[in-house]
Amino acid sequence: MNGPSVSYSPGLEGVIAGKTAISTVGKKGKGLNYRGYSIYDLAEQAAFEEVAHLLIHGRLPTTGELDAYRARLKGLRGLPEGLKRVLEQLPAAAHPMDVLRTACSALGTMEPEGEGRDQYAIADRLVASFPSMLLYWHHFHAGGKAIDTETDEDSLAGHFLFLLHGSKPAELHRRMLDASLILYAEHEFNASTFSARVTASTLPDFYAAVTSAIGTLRGPLHGGANEEAMKLITRFRSPEEAERGLLDMLARKEKIMGFGHRVYKEADPRSRVIKEWSRRLGEAAGDMTLFAVSERIEEVMLREKRLYPNLDFYSASAYHLAGIPTSMFTPVFVFARIAGWSAHIIEQRADNRIFRPVAEYVGPEPMAFVPIGERG
Ligand code: COA
Repeated sequence: MNGPSVSYSPGLEGVIAGKTAISTVGKKGKGLNYRGYSIYDLAEQAAFEEVAHLLIHGRLPTTGELDAYRARLKGLRGLPEGLKRVLEQLPAAAHPMDVLRTACSALGTMEPEGEGRDQYAIADRLVASFPSMLLYWHHFHAGGKAIDTETDEDSLAGHFLFLLHGSKPAELHRRMLDASLILYAEHEFNASTFSARVTASTLPDFYAAVTSAIGTLRGPLHGGANEEAMKLITRFRSPEEAERGLLDMLARKEKIMGFGHRVYKEADPRSRVIKEWSRRLGEAAGDMTLFAVSERIEEVMLREKRLYPNLDFYSASAYHLAGIPTSMFTPVFVFARIAGWSAHIIEQRADNRIFRPVAEYVGPEPMAFVPIGERG
């Protein structure tokens, strides 16, 4: 081959980089589906554990299978002593995403993939234990407590909120988080999933691919946008202040986090679901300030830039109202997306070819080498 066979597409926009049977994103006539099921049906009628089973194990579980799956996940929430020691050593000021990235990598050395532990077992283990890793580290450093990471909560959403607050969560908050985990669980070839697939394509262990994905998710252009959206909306005390502030930011050509999407040029289908949850939590709290500020920002962005909110935007106010600290917003994304990443790693391995694209060379023309003594 003398050169690239396709033209250069910055950011790989529009490039088909692989095949998948896991989800459709923005496909005409299909919308957003996980293995053929509409995101709206799943977010309204399913539980996150059903969706994780669908993505990782390939189909919706029966009632018996779901009970067994929940029980299995519940039994995988404890952490090995060695991992607790690692979490204790990490700085209190570390970013929670860096904690998860490190914890995932460390777990891979303690519970390696191989004999007696296949890729499905590791996927389930990570689905079950990411909240434990984060909150063991959090409580150890914030309150000096080595917490028990097992709870009686059947759902991952309830388990996380229980470990975070130390008490049974309000059902409204638990249901919001459960729906949010479903919305965040999978999204085709987004940057972190692509990163997981690129790493998986070189055939390392499962944890290596997940660790790559966590690192990729952390940035503000991807998962980190929900934290940035929260910082934005809490700057304003009223919709009027938000309007003025937004217009100033746009005049300075600043990026507004939580808006825009590479694939969705119209509305992100997930946004209206989480927006409704944000409204419900605001009403229950008797405080609609964050919601009203968010809605005004949405109006201004549509009017001024024709840009729509993505899933991250209304997730920010919904999470805040459920008492989740802003620095844990992107880790919550990890708790959900591990289901999608796992499904993609498994799919990549089943029909693998190493990813190795080419670059357009823009460097100097070939020139004579000058020995070090003659360089002046
Ligand atoms: N705020 C202000 N302007 C934005 C914007 C935003 N959030 N998102 C896109 N734009 C503008 C770009 O500046 C660009 O304008 P230009 O043509 O005048 O240069 C135009 O819209 C096209 O955007 P582009 O940067 O080409 O989109 P992309 O496909 O490369 O990037 C995102 C997509 C998601 C990374 C981008 O929209 C973004 O950075 N959004 C904010 C971060 C975010 O919410 N990420 C979560 C994604 S789910």
